[in-house]
Amino acid sequence: MLNTDLRSQITKLRNEIAIHDRHYYVESAPVISDREYDRLFKELQDLEKAHPELITRDSPTQRIADEPTKLFPPATHHVPMLSLANTYSTQEVEDFAKRVTDLLDHEPTEGYTCELKFDGVAMSLLYQGGRLVRGATRGDGTAGDDVTANVRTIHSVPLSLHSKSPLATESFEARGEVFMDLEGFRKLNAQRDEAGEAAFANPRNSTAGSLKTLDAREVAKRPLHFVAYQLRFDAEAVEKSPELDTHSSRLALLKEFGFAVSKETRVVKDTEGIMHFCMHWQEHRGALGFEIDGAVMKVNSLTEQEKIGFVAKSPRWAIAYKFETAQARTRLNAITLQVGRMGTITPVAELEPVALTGITIRRATLHNADEIVRKDIRIGDMVIVERGGEVIPKVAGVDVSERPADSVPYEFPTTCPECGSTLVRPAEEVNWYCENAECPAQIIARITHFSSRGAMDIAGLGAQSVEQFVAAGFLHTIADIYDLASRRDELIALDRMGDKKVDNLLDGIEKSKQQPVARFLFALGIRHVGTSIATLLTDEFGGIDNVSEASEEAIDAVPGIGPEIASSVYSFFRQPSNTHLLDRLRASGLPFHGEPKKKDIVVSDFFHGKTFVLTGTLSTMTREEAKEKIEARGGKVSGSVSKKTSYVVAGEEAGSKLTKAEELGLRILTEEEFTREIA
Ligand code: IVH
Repeated sequence: MLNTDLRSQITKLRNEIAIHDRHYYVESAPVISDREYDRLFKELQDLEKAHPELITRDSPTQRIADEPTKLFPPATHHVPMLSLANTYSTQEVEDFAKRVTDLLDHEPTEGYTCELKFDGVAMSLLYQGGRLVRGATRGDGTAGDDVTANVRTIHSVPLSLHSKSPLATESFEARGEVFMDLEGFRKLNAQRDEAGEAAFANPRNSTAGSLKTLDAREVAKRPLHFVAYQLRFDAEAVEKSPELDTHSSRLALLKEFGFAVSKETRVVKDTEGIMHFCMHWQEHRGALGFEIDGAVMKVNSLTEQEKIGFVAKSPRWAIAYKFETAQARTRLNAITLQVGRMGTITPVAELEPVALTGITIRRATLHNADEIVRKDIRIGDMVIVERGGEVIPKVAGVDVSERPADSVPYEFPTTCPECGSTLVRPAEEVNWYCENAECPAQIIARITHFSSRGAMDIAGLGAQSVEQFVAAGFLHTIADIYDLASRRDELIALDRMGDKKVDNLLDGIEKSKQQPVARFLFALGIRHVGTSIATLLTDEFGGIDNVSEASEEAIDAVPGIGPEIASSVYSFFRQPSNTHLLDRLRASGLPFHGEPKKKDIVVSDFFHGKTFVLTGTLSTMTREEAKEKIEARGGKVSGSVSKKTSYVVAGEEAGSKLTKAEELGLRILTEEEFTREIA
């Protein structure tokens, strides 16, 4: 190949990899599989290996992964934390076993351990005298972040060991993975959604984000787990003791120490055993309750591990077998539309049931109308459904070769499937809306939201009962809930009801009147008002009446609340149908009153009276949160840099504002300096 051709091929690969890095790490929305990515990466590595003179410093191959964040104190690893080489085929696993056998001159005497490859964040835990003394992330392998305070909140991390083994008081390091279980992940995202916060893309991102949180109390609320998969003692005499010469015996000791170790680990003797383990979990991983992205095989004997050694950043005695993104082909029978409580229309794929990673998939999200057009998804198509990092299956694409001859492009309905009113799509929005407040689907969704767990928490008034009561004509608005007591006999007469059930329900309804006013405000279902905004409003104004009387400017002035929310709250209380609704709720005895919370204004000399400009992306908080914190301390936030600016807080990829600030010679704060002042 000509040198210029080579150069352009290398540049092309680098650009392509950089684009995928951005999709993966920045947007958390990869567009190619890990396998395809690794292939591109390897191609580039091979070319650079053959032509080292063409390596540049900015090549993705030269990047050191995940440098410490500088938010936490650095933590040096006495023994570097390595990564594993990835494989994708039986052939590559066979090559691995052959290499191991060649290097040893015989098959491994203690076989291989096969473990799940947990899809979380690697963690190093140091223990001295039976106590946890440090928790650190991997970082660049040599040094990571000291996240001890956060790690201490994870229940499966023993803070002190209660073990009969005399080895428990030795100094040792346990390595393993911190991960989030799927149920906890779903709940966390539902809460964030209700609170109006952005959802996490997948459990791994959510774990990484949680560990980086600066407030350990917040971390404590996250459903994190730790599973141990490596143990190393400081004292040579212990480290080299014959009874600890197998990896499997160390896993057993970790268990005895009180760590969670994977129940799924198996010891096998050859490639056949390895592949059996891999294939089993490739197929059944959906039933685990947490995410794995492959399997890990390790030579079981530590003496043999040492003999086999390392190359660059990975051991040669271990290998990861990575699973493909789970995909299945099935027929798209229909596209239905779901109507949310605000009238948002979400298209849903109704599928011929198909098994995928241990669960049966019947429905998948199609996101919105544009997605259907972009992928040209048609009813009757054979579609590819995928469950990748995300929990909800999605339709990844269409197998056009199997498209029926008479197929026609899908036409997005123009009317609401539930009430028949004309759908509208506001300019610049991807969603269609049903604007009929009387739409039965919206009525049901609104009432269900009102009684839901995070809102008024009325037991016995879930979606099913609400639907039943709406159909029977007993419920039409949320205010009708409080009239149900006068219909006790009629309720008992309904299907699947009965004295006891009805009395429990009425009891729950009565008790809901005691809920705090912030919950009640949230339960009203005002657009953009999640639990945290509701609390901000009641803390500021006190009761619902005060909120309803507040001017749009006064609402906008509340730290943490922007113009869009202010406008939504203000107009809600000015709609005649809502004032009528509130009058009825007041008459039923719901909590309308409250006292504004006395603010402990943390007036700080550093912030008081100063003007701040935020630029770039902060890694520990959103801009809204940063603004809130500055304002709570008596500072002001402005959108543009001028001579009057006191400080510019520069996050990552800060742009022209930073340049201008430098030109004007203003004080520039790094995120670290800023968070320190806040703390
Ligand atoms: S052993 C030298 N075992 O995969 C080998 N790693 O690229 C050290 N991982 O950073 C790792 N499950 O975060 C090992 N059962 C397991 C694992 C596992 C997940 C992660 C770990 C590591 C990465 C390897």
